[in-house]
Amino acid sequence: MKKVAEPHSVVPMAERVCFEKSAALRSRAHAVIPGGAHTYAKGDDQFPERSPGFIARGKGCHIWDVDGNEFIEYGMGLRSVTLGHAYASVIEAAYRQMLQGNNFNRPALLELECAEMLQSLVPGAEMVKFAKDGSTILTAGIKLARAYTGRTLVAVCSESPFYSYNDWFIGLTQMDSGIPPVTRSMTLTFDYNDIGSLERLFARFPGQIAMVLMEPTRLIDPQDGFLQKVREVAHRDGAVFMLDETITGFRFHRGGAQSVFGVTPDLSCFGKAMANGFSLSALVGRSEIMQLGGLQHDKERVFLLSTTHGAEYPALAAALETMRIYRDEPVIEHLYRAGERLRQGFLDAVADAGVHDHLTIAGRPCNLLYGTRDHDGNPSQEFRTLFLQELIRWGVLAPSFIVSYSHDDSDIDYTIEAIRRAAAVYAQAIDARSTDGLLIGRPTRPVYRRYN
Ligand SMILES: Cc1ncc(COP(=O)(O)O)c(C=O)c1O
Repeated sequence: MKKVAEPHSVVPMAERVCFEKSAALRSRAHAVIPGGAHTYAKGDDQFPERSPGFIARGKGCHIWDVDGNEFIEYGMGLRSVTLGHAYASVIEAAYRQMLQGNNFNRPALLELECAEMLQSLVPGAEMVKFAKDGSTILTAGIKLARAYTGRTLVAVCSESPFYSYNDWFIGLTQMDSGIPPVTRSMTLTFDYNDIGSLERLFARFPGQIAMVLMEPTRLIDPQDGFLQKVREVAHRDGAVFMLDETITGFRFHRGGAQSVFGVTPDLSCFGKAMANGFSLSALVGRSEIMQLGGLQHDKERVFLLSTTHGAEYPALAAALETMRIYRDEPVIEHLYRAGERLRQGFLDAVADAGVHDHLTIAGRPCNLLYGTRDHDGNPSQEFRTLFLQELIRWGVLAPSFIVSYSHDDSDIDYTIEAIRRAAAVYAQAIDARSTDGLLIGRPTRPVYRRYN
């Protein structure tokens, strides 16, 4: 069963006021790391000025920053840490493997065992190929689809804010600097829950689209069998249908969102939640397509995925243990239950503060995102920053409200109390039609912007 290793020790509603060490480290970080962080979502421009800049350690859903402040965290390692930070049995599995070696010249048995475990959980996983991150396997999936179909274009669902740091996707954003126009022109977009928008692409580019790529869902579930229709439209024209389950994989269901919505894609991508924060991702799918990257066919060969660290053994051992826990313990049930408790508490708190039209929450309970609107009802970075700042003040670091297996009722209830306090300040700003005097420092900024 779940082990929350330390009883949580958040001082009841003590204000976090000291970020001195974090502030001092910032200039050092920006001098050596472009953006001050290795992931844009962790960057300074994504958090208020008064926030923990550097984290010293984590346990369960609690983290401690370099100034010694403790927080309950949501999102957890960009959603990669589904069970909890430093989850005992996962790190023990990784450590045991480290003592046996990290990487050999021929595959370890673990590579096969881990692939078979994933295959046993995910309906569409006839074959499996591991890598380290989601971006790499999505790009590999596209290459495979292009080789399989002999076509060039890719149709991606516009609803998702991120698929890959690679050019085929980033070329669609405001940050397309350095990406040749020819690369951008090969990616087309269609809209979620709008099958007509995909049909129009196929009508315009018949026989030219290699792949249709999408997340199964983001905030709204597929309507009227949308995923089945996408698959059908893609197959009718001979295109490959790939689902990006980087976020939904294991969080929505131990077999991925494809198990929830009853659709089997040709290819799918798993990452983030596979190894509880250890770096591992997997391209999985139909043998007929995946086999092109293999040794047992007489077609033209595809250089599929071949990375030095793709099957790094501690990460595989962590993944095997993480997937075992998903299989044997009520992890997914817990995510839904804890998320629902939080969703309800959020709704009550913002209603009591009279800001329910301005502070909103959406998504499945296992994957909750909030929205921040200003006095005129427009999405607002200033108001988002104020809300984040006030949550941080009361010991909650929540760019989203995505829970883990380690968020217990007391963590959730504490968070709801912090939301109440943050919502009260938010209400003051709504009444004043401005965050002036309440927001300390500059607002957060969207990641995709052409200039700083
Ligand atoms: C839906 C989705 N797909 C793919 C990726 C890329 O994964 P990675 O950051 O591991 O390359 C992300 C990362 O946030 C994602 O959210």
